[in-house]
Amino acid sequence: MLICPICKNELKKRGNSLFCSKNHCFDFAKQGYINLLPVQQKKSLNPGDSKEMLSARRSFLSKGFYTPIKDKVACLIETYRQDNENFLDIGCGEGYYTVEISRAVPFKNVIGTDIAKDAVKMCCNRSKDIMWTVATASHLPVKDQSIDCITSIFSLVVADEYYIKLKKGGIIVEVSAGNNHLIELKREIYQQVYKQEKSQRDYSHLFTTEYEDKISFQLLLENEDLKNLLDMTPHINRIKKDRKQQLYNLQSLAITVECNVRVLKKR
Ligand SMILES: C[S@@+](CC[C@H](N)C(=O)[O-])C[C@H]1O[C@@H](n2cnc3c(N)ncnc32)[C@H](O)[C@@H]1O
Repeated sequence: MLICPICKNELKKRGNSLFCSKNHCFDFAKQGYINLLPVQQKKSLNPGDSKEMLSARRSFLSKGFYTPIKDKVACLIETYRQDNENFLDIGCGEGYYTVEISRAVPFKNVIGTDIAKDAVKMCCNRSKDIMWTVATASHLPVKDQSIDCITSIFSLVVADEYYIKLKKGGIIVEVSAGNNHLIELKREIYQQVYKQEKSQRDYSHLFTTEYEDKISFQLLLENEDLKNLLDMTPHINRIKKDRKQQLYNLQSLAITVECNVRVLKKR
């Protein structure tokens, strides 16, 4: 199912490497993942989330705080997928959702992909049954019209590219942050929090919307879990050092989790 990110020809396994017919070669790393992100597709030296964000996310998600999100996505895939052949989780991070969802709704082939090499390295110790790949969502290294289900969980949707890679009737399950997502944490961070009603992007020229709703729940988080939550979000990079320390000292905080969930089906 994988294709060469340079010439787009099919990749075949030989020894510990994948080769295309033009002899571009990609070696499996010792951890078991494959790097299909050529330098010309990188916009920085280490694109994607940092090691610190990833390990905070691993600690946080491993405690099951976002189980309702994972369960909802699994249930939607079960309901709306047409086939159980190929599942691709894009922007898979440290692999929590890829592994949990593929356990709940088995597919023949599962690919987890992220632009951050450190993320994909971490994924390898979650499961050896998944093909973990470093790649960009804008140039997915999979055959056209080969994928039954794509998930984008707090990640990006490159609608044209996903359209090309999905089979007809294939689905995208998209989870994005709602307007009240982590609102209490934002109030602690920013002097003013603007509550703009963000509208969902319109992809109706490519996809029909099969399902659209919100998931919302409350968490009462204690110090260490709050610190992890803070460290796994992009907000962490916008806080001054002294304020960061004050926030790390918070003993507990009630937090709202609010996500928009959509199922889009390829026309
Ligand atoms: C907020 S995190 C979400 C990770 C995971 N889905 C989760 O919810 O735990 C977004 C992820 O998208 C990845 N990412 C950012 N830009 C990307 C791109 N162009 N292609 C693939 N992954 C990308 C980041 O490295 C990061 O791991």
